[in-house]
Amino acid sequence: MDNSELISRARCVLRLNDMGEFTRPSPRQYPHQWNWDSAFIALGLSHFDLPRALAEVRTLLRAQWRDGMVPHIIYPTGASDYFPPPDFWRTENLPHAGAIPSSGLTQPPILATVVRAMSGPTHTAQRDFLQEVFPRLLAWHRWFHTTRDADGTGLPCLIHPWESGMDNSPLWAGALDRITPINLPPFSRRDTIHVAPDERPLAPDYERFVYLIDCGRRLRWEPRALLEQMPFLVQDVLFCSILHRADQDLRMLAVKLGQDTYEIDGWLARTHEVFDTRFWDDERGLYLDYDVRAQAPIRANANVTFAPLFAGLASPEQAARLVVEHLDNLVEYAPGADSQFRLPSVAKNERGYSPRRYWCGPVWIQMNWIIAGGLRRYGFAAQADALVRDSLALMAQSDFREYYDPRDGSGCGATDFCWSAALALEMAASPDSSPHPGELKS
Ligand code: GLC
Repeated sequence: MDNSELISRARCVLRLNDMGEFTRPSPRQYPHQWNWDSAFIALGLSHFDLPRALAEVRTLLRAQWRDGMVPHIIYPTGASDYFPPPDFWRTENLPHAGAIPSSGLTQPPILATVVRAMSGPTHTAQRDFLQEVFPRLLAWHRWFHTTRDADGTGLPCLIHPWESGMDNSPLWAGALDRITPINLPPFSRRDTIHVAPDERPLAPDYERFVYLIDCGRRLRWEPRALLEQMPFLVQDVLFCSILHRADQDLRMLAVKLGQDTYEIDGWLARTHEVFDTRFWDDERGLYLDYDVRAQAPIRANANVTFAPLFAGLASPEQAARLVVEHLDNLVEYAPGADSQFRLPSVAKNERGYSPRRYWCGPVWIQMNWIIAGGLRRYGFAAQADALVRDSLALMAQSDFREYYDPRDGSGCGATDFCWSAALALEMAASPDSSPHPGELKS
């Protein structure tokens, strides 16, 4: 597929999954609306249908809970054959929930970054739209920095692996191992109907995912009770980096609208202050996730370690160590005898690396986009170009799949997958651009 074929095929995939007011991530595997999927999809749509892109964002924000959370799965058209169905979450009639059926969890807040990119020099989003969505984005970010703050750092805690967007990453293995599901509600998995079981989570992990939903619903998704009692409580480098970057973008929107930035400035300063202490491992030259329940770093080396570059949170020295010691390291992430395509989601020498299994090693296009943007921000243009080149090559070779085997580039998981298509449009249109980089840490 050449570039123009890739672009027209990407548009077809977005149209194929267009459900009117929202876009499902893929036809069979994901028939509802997902939070960060919709944000990436809006970015892709903005290249050829800005009104539809804005509608995607509006539908997502319409599902915002009264307390500020924007949920991870939204069921605007009711149940399907997808598990969990809307009523499994028991979120209806909660005083702090929203008006549209949804899960009780959230997902990485890339939305403000997307909204800012859509109102950048190439797209002129209406001021009315910005005025409409800004207070909602602000409320969501406030919810992260306060309602999900368990330790005074202002770094949000995740209560379920699904909130990270990296549902089945080996990052969560230790925390999940400590959990013994009891009185598991009856359920039947649907995710292995359309996708090969060896590309999906193992049964014991899936049982823990369901058990954690059951814990949340027994706590009636009450925020304080969740922080105090959920058996899974972590702070994730990718999530906090995306939020910090989104705080910067939200600040730019505030300036554009003539709004006060005092509160956002406070979040930005606080994250800057605590980020290294919480996540940086100077001995290994890696950012590591943190298990809040166990009060210990999560030792696994996953590609979230490069995400702080997207947010300008690394010093130039930290960035150089990440690139030289890890990104360009043949044993960990660089193509070599055992892989051809960048960037495995988990280091190849990590225990738990599995090149076809969901989040345990395959390449994900949205991770490549985030990391390429970060590398460019720090002047690593050759590495950023390589990530974009490999992403476009994977999609040209194996179409728009959910994830790809880094060894031979074969596609895995869901087919006709939207955020891959959306980001192909973004990468093909501006292969060397990172949307509006800000200041770096000095
Ligand atoms: C999977 C991914 C998650 C994504 C969802 C829909 O659950 O892990 O990040 O949002 O699929 O594509």
